[in-house]
Amino acid sequence: MEIFSSPLQLQSKLLQLKRSGKKIGFAPTMGNLHQGHLSLITEAKKRADIVVSSIFVNPMQFGPNEDFDSYPRTLEQDISKLESVGCDFLLTPTIDDIYPLGKEIHTSVEVNRLTDKLCGASRPGHFRGVTTIVNILFNIVQPDLAIFGKKDYQQYQIIKTMVKDLIMPIEIIGAEIVRENNGLAMSSRNGYLTEQQKEDASQLRKVILSTAESIESGKKSITDARTDAIEALTDKGFKVDYFEVVNQTDLEQAKKTDKHLLIAAAAWLGQPRLIDNFEFEVN
Ligand code: PAF
Repeated sequence: MEIFSSPLQLQSKLLQLKRSGKKIGFAPTMGNLHQGHLSLITEAKKRADIVVSSIFVNPMQFGPNEDFDSYPRTLEQDISKLESVGCDFLLTPTIDDIYPLGKEIHTSVEVNRLTDKLCGASRPGHFRGVTTIVNILFNIVQPDLAIFGKKDYQQYQIIKTMVKDLIMPIEIIGAEIVRENNGLAMSSRNGYLTEQQKEDASQLRKVILSTAESIESGKKSITDARTDAIEALTDKGFKVDYFEVVNQTDLEQAKKTDKHLLIAAAAWLGQPRLIDNFEFEVN
């Protein structure tokens, strides 16, 4: 794997490869890689000739009271992991490379829908930070396709919207959530959990699945199922940020006529805020 810290040097290398007809796949990350990230590389390898990843803990997407400073940085281990799955190029820029005049005055990109609900409601400005960095990275890498994990389902839909709205010639692919044996969705923030909390955290997935089952089977209305889920999670020690049943595409509250539903949830268990979701269909 070739590692570039300079965005312009990587850009010029990839432009040469593109000109010679190579298809470029891209999986951006913030590092502290786990199997979920590696599955993005594996997906990209199936569909592209050259696979590029990036590791950049993006200050623009962290709120003032969030964990930017303590976010786990594990570059050496990440490099070995990327090499083990055959990633071809890695970009590791500095904050100055990306935001030379500071993130406050840097040009930003904002999607004007989908961003104010769910995670956007409790993390103001987060998605503006995400779409800005993803845009910058897309301009550096100029990929034909890019892969995003569906654990961050809202992020995945927002990026698809950005690419469509801005007519960017990039195919956005959603990769399935990779889970621990107990069902907990893999996340770099799981490292903040104690062993006991990791076990308890698996309840988030269990409650989401049983809620989906009650709605699918018609045993409960969406409203009752949601209320019961919040109560169950609270009883199990979670502080629920949101637990919503929404339409998969516009992420609006599910209506009786909607068929393609998503349960999206975020809850704190101790320090970390965990997110998870489940896509399902109703008749
Ligand atoms: O999902 C992430 O890890 C980040 O939000 C991303 C897409 C790499 C942008 O910083």
